[in-house]
Amino acid sequence: MAQSNLAVEFEFTFPAKPARLTEDEQAQYKARIKQLLIEKNAVLIAHYYTDPIIQALAEETGGCVADSLEMARFGNQHPAQTLIIAGVKFMGETAKVLTPEKTVVMPTLEATCSLDLGCPIKEFSEFCDQHPDRTVVVYANTSTAVKARADWIVTSSCALEIVEHLEEQGEKILWGPDRHLGNYIQKQTGADMIMWQGACIVHDEFKTKALEDMKALHPDAAILVHPESPAEIIELADSVGSTSQLIKAAQELPNKKFIVATDRGIFYKMQQLCPDKEFFEAPTAGEGATCRSCAHCPWMAMNGLKAIEEALIDAKGKEVFVDMSLREGALRSTNRMLEFSASLRK
Ligand code: 13P
Ligand code: SF4
Repeated sequence: MAQSNLAVEFEFTFPAKPARLTEDEQAQYKARIKQLLIEKNAVLIAHYYTDPIIQALAEETGGCVADSLEMARFGNQHPAQTLIIAGVKFMGETAKVLTPEKTVVMPTLEATCSLDLGCPIKEFSEFCDQHPDRTVVVYANTSTAVKARADWIVTSSCALEIVEHLEEQGEKILWGPDRHLGNYIQKQTGADMIMWQGACIVHDEFKTKALEDMKALHPDAAILVHPESPAEIIELADSVGSTSQLIKAAQELPNKKFIVATDRGIFYKMQQLCPDKEFFEAPTAGEGATCRSCAHCPWMAMNGLKAIEEALIDAKGKEVFVDMSLREGALRSTNRMLEFSASLRK
């Protein structure tokens, strides 16, 4: 397997978290948001990594809490005129690419993703140009421009099946940007892949030795791992998968205890669906730890009730727009994924 050393250094400052709200304030915000969602013909679509209050609100108001693939699908099919996307920038952009006629709003447009930041279009496009014989497969955690450059978009829910399919067609793959997910998919499928060397700052922090120590303390616990984690963490897993696949594994595995190597926001849904089971965060401390994220995505954490209310009152500065000249290309590669995963479900 050819390997590329491509990586782009990027600078970022950690965003401020929303101010803590009292229980009374939370209840007031929730009541006002519920009313505004009706008045504005809007629906709240939240990712599993957002604050549990937001996930609960999305459920209570007929919206959805989901992984990135399902968020795209739900927004695409829902009749509401306004989509409020509680997540990170690429999720809002995907919604706008799929439904340009809708108003797509985010609590904050500053919520981004280290994979998106580390894969700028200019450098990624040059990499693609150097390998014109390869099919470009890009993770959804990227900009509209990178998606427009891709042949296929994947999320961790469908990446394995899509790469398997391409492998069977004899296609050689240029993969970007997450190196850990790419390596995992390469190992599983045996596909010929060259990779962009991006990483998620949250999943990159899980530590092998500390995880082994934790497992020794809880030998009956199953280890659940998101494939954006390093290979040594994936090797220790009882189940590897996207957020929704990990939630399913928590429901289906017989274990009563789970050590979970992904963002801790997912515990809301796991605990809701498995009230008699116990969930532990996989450790991020240990050798080489920077604790830059500590199992919670700093950008997902920017989504708060106050910002949702503000976005519903006035979308100015919170509305997602995509460059229409890029939309067509991004739509083509995103639709391929949606159509392929729909055919799998049939
Ligand atoms: P999922 O597609 O599994 O929800 O993952 C999105 C993500 O950003 C994980 O870090
Ligand atoms: Fe990006 Fe990682 Fe945050 Fe997911 S958890 S949005 S991959 S930085």
